[in-house]
Parts: sequence; structure tokens; C-alpha cells
Amino acid sequence: MTKKLYISTYGCQMNVYDSARMADILSPLGYSLTNQPNGADMAILNTCHIREKASEKTFSELGRLRNMRKAKEEKDQGGMIIAVAGCVAQAEGAEIMKRAPYVDMVFGPQSYHKLPEMMAEATRGAGQILDTDFPIEPKFDYLPDEAIDTNLSAFLTVQEGCDKFCAFCVVPYTRGAEFSRPVASIVAEAKRMIAGGTREITLLGQNVNAYHGEGPNGRAYSLAELIEELAEIDGLQRLRYTTSHPLEMTEDLCKTHRDVDILMPYLHLPVQAGADRILEAMNRRHTGAQYRTIIEKLRNYRPDLALSGDFIVGFPGETDAEFEDTMQLVRDVNYAQAYSFKYSPRPGTPAAALEGQMIPEEVKSERLARLQALLNEQQLSFNRTFEGKEIDVLLEREGKKEGQLIGRSPYMQSVFVQSPPHRIGRIATVVVEEGNANSLRGKLKTGSTASAA
Ligand code: SAH
Ligand code: SF4
Ligand code: F3S
Repeated sequence: MTKKLYISTYGCQMNVYDSARMADILSPLGYSLTNQPNGADMAILNTCHIREKASEKTFSELGRLRNMRKAKEEKDQGGMIIAVAGCVAQAEGAEIMKRAPYVDMVFGPQSYHKLPEMMAEATRGAGQILDTDFPIEPKFDYLPDEAIDTNLSAFLTVQEGCDKFCAFCVVPYTRGAEFSRPVASIVAEAKRMIAGGTREITLLGQNVNAYHGEGPNGRAYSLAELIEELAEIDGLQRLRYTTSHPLEMTEDLCKTHRDVDILMPYLHLPVQAGADRILEAMNRRHTGAQYRTIIEKLRNYRPDLALSGDFIVGFPGETDAEFEDTMQLVRDVNYAQAYSFKYSPRPGTPAAALEGQMIPEEVKSERLARLQALLNEQQLSFNRTFEGKEIDVLLEREGKKEGQLIGRSPYMQSVFVQSPPHRIGRIATVVVEEGNANSLRGKLKTGSTASAA
């Protein structure tokens, strides 16, 4: 009998990728995915530690799962293995075991390939299992080749971990040191994905542009070289990569935006803040001027490149004038899309020790509101520039409305069109009728020569 596996995923795209791999690993053990926890035989919370709010969700979710397990047991419908994975597990494994003794297993982002062994132990009744090691042998060597679920647009982890140690960030502690997968294993995985129906691949890494994996000739490949290699694969129609650090935005990589036609004209390049003093206190290792120069270079190679960013407001000690520098940088760059956050002190990070300099919550809220208003305005005007124009849309799935499909533009915008469902999987030309805050709406161009899936 198949057993039901529920996975709840928080945080970044890397966690989305990891959750899919956990499902792949558990599939030969008889587990198939369900999208609701009630009645599940196993539930995994794949957690995020990046900000306090994200991290707190773990314990409330665990409480809910515990009640569901109780209900299931009372109805004599068997038990539920409860597992905590991801970055909270890595950072607070022992604490979770203590605070939630009913949790069966806790494992980090670098040890989930050992799930089959952990499952065997759990069924033997070995008690709580904790595995938050950073093994010498990377998990990628142990992951199964068969993916149970291939999406049209899918993630592929090529690099993991971070050696940058920004003063506010937990990622170097939860994901460990930078590691790049060898080119051959990435190419093989990409080919399997494409054979399974994937048309768009997003290369993932905490610092994806620091990629330096072993190439076919034994030499380390840069991300630019990896992209060129992947672009040769038949059937792959779109490539993206995320997240990049400004320091690693090399000339070569900037040039690939001009030279590789399947590399989409959209780049997420977080800057976090605009004032040099804050950038330095954050240990970002670049200035606002250096960031602007990189953007200029990129736009020279690829004039239509759309930019996205991440911002933190209220970093310890940030003055009003320094916050205005962030606003000015946003005006200068003009983003198509962005994420912005209030600074959240994280245990164990250097910035959390700057106690005397914490910015009051109301000030952070006010700065965030102003920054978001500006970013939203930029996003809306970016979307409006497409009105009346034609764009290529990869049609991905059905929308909520009758006869509606949802796809993505090269610039990552969600696009709604009226179209029969058999066009899913194709890239269609869409005439944009309306640019809204978060999406575009348009019509299929009649006689549009859509590429076959
Ligand atoms: N590796 C990526 C981002 C990792 S985390 C990079 O280097 O840009 C995603 C975003 O969360 C960060 O870019 C930052 O804007 C935000 N973030 C990280 N730590 C934070 C903290 N302590 N408080 C608020 N936002 C934070
Ligand atoms: Fe965190 Fe900085 Fe590394 Fe990004 S580069 S993951 S923000 S430490
Ligand atoms: Fe969160 Fe870990 Fe990603 S802390 S943002 S899930 S790397």
C-alpha cells in the first residue's frame, strides 16, 4: 500500500529543490506526495531560519501536526512520522528535540540523503533521531537519479553554501561552506529533467555566480562556462540563475547575457542597502558605486535586462540619511521586481551583537513602507511598458478562470491569457493588453508559431 507523504516548504527556492529531492528519496520506500497533512503517514517541515518570523512558524506548525497525529491514532489509522528538515533544523536541532519531544527526526540541509537509514531507524523504534552533520561526501553523490515529479519550469541546485558571512545572515551557518557540483553531474541532471518535460531550468545556489565546479577537463568551470555548456542541450528553451552576489558578477558572466540566447533577460542581484557605511557594516564588501557600475555593464551587454533585488531596512545603526541612500539607489537602478525586509536579529550572527544600535520597530516599519511604495511603483511602471507589445510566454498551467492559462514572460512576469489547455508547455507569443502590479494580461497572437513542447 502506498503511504502518504506531506512536505511543507518554507524559505527559498533551494528548499523547494530539497523538498523535491526528499520526495524522490522516499518514493522507493512507498511514499507518494499528498498536499494536505491530515491523514499523512509522514510529514516533513522543510524550514527556514532567515528571519525570526520564518523560524517561529516551525513550532506552531509542529503543534498542528502533533494534533493530527493524535487524531489519526485515535481513529486507529496508524501513526505519522514527524520530521523537521531545513535551516531551523540545522541551527536549532537540539532545541527542537527538547521543545518538541514528539518529533521523530530532525535533519539538516546537508544530511537528508540519509533519509532511508533514518527511516529504518525510526521504524525500529530507535527514538528521536538528530542528524545535522556536514558530511565530507556531498549529498548530491547519494541522491537518486529518478525524479518523481518534473515541472515545465524547474530548479536545479548547482552550488550550495556560502563563505560570504554578511553580518546579518544565518545562511553560512545553516548551509555550510560553499560547494559546487561537477559540471558532468549537473548536465546529466538537466538532461533527465528535459527528457521528463522540463523546458525552463533555474540554476540555484546561495551564491550561484561563485560557481566553480569541476569541468569535463578537470579544470574548474565558471558559471558563465556552465551556462554555455547547458545551453547546448537539445530541448532546453530557457535558462535562469539565482541568487547572485555583486562581487562575483564577472565580465564573462555579464557577457553571457548578450551571447547566450536562452539565458533570460532577468537577474536577481541583491544589494541590501545603499549607504557605503551600512554596506561595510553588513560586510557586503562592495560600495553603492561599485554596484551601480555592475548594473551599467550588464545593461550595456543586454539593454532589456530586468533587475530584481533584496533590501534590508533598519540594519543596526542605520540613520535616516543612510536609509535615503537606499531610496536613491533604488531610483537610480529602477527595479522590475524586489523583496524588502525589516532587519531581524539572528542568533549567532555578528550584527545581532550590535545591541545598543537596534532600530525601533516603528522606524523600521515606516522605512519599509516607503521603500515598498517606491518598489511597487517601479514594478507597476515596468509592467505597463509592455502594454501593446508582444512577448514570449512559456505557458505553464491552468488559471482559476475558465479557459485561462498562466505563464511566464522572459522577465519573470506572470502572464494570464485565454487559451485552450493543450498549449501548456509551449512558448507562445502574447500581445499584452494590460500591465498590472503583479502580472500581465494579454491575448495569444493569432497564427503565433508556438514552439512545440
Ligand atoms: N544568498 C542571497 C540571499 C540569501 S537570504 C544573497 O546573498 O543575496 C535572502 C534575503 O533575505 C537576503 O538577500 C536579505 O535581503 C534577507 N535577509 C537575510 N538575513 C536577514 C535578516 N537577518 N533580517 C532581514 N532580512 C534578512
Ligand atoms: Fe547570506 Fe550574504 Fe551569503 Fe547571501 S551572500 S547567503 S546574504 S551571507
Ligand atoms: Fe531560509 Fe535556509 Fe533558504 S535560512 S532562505 S531556507 S537557505
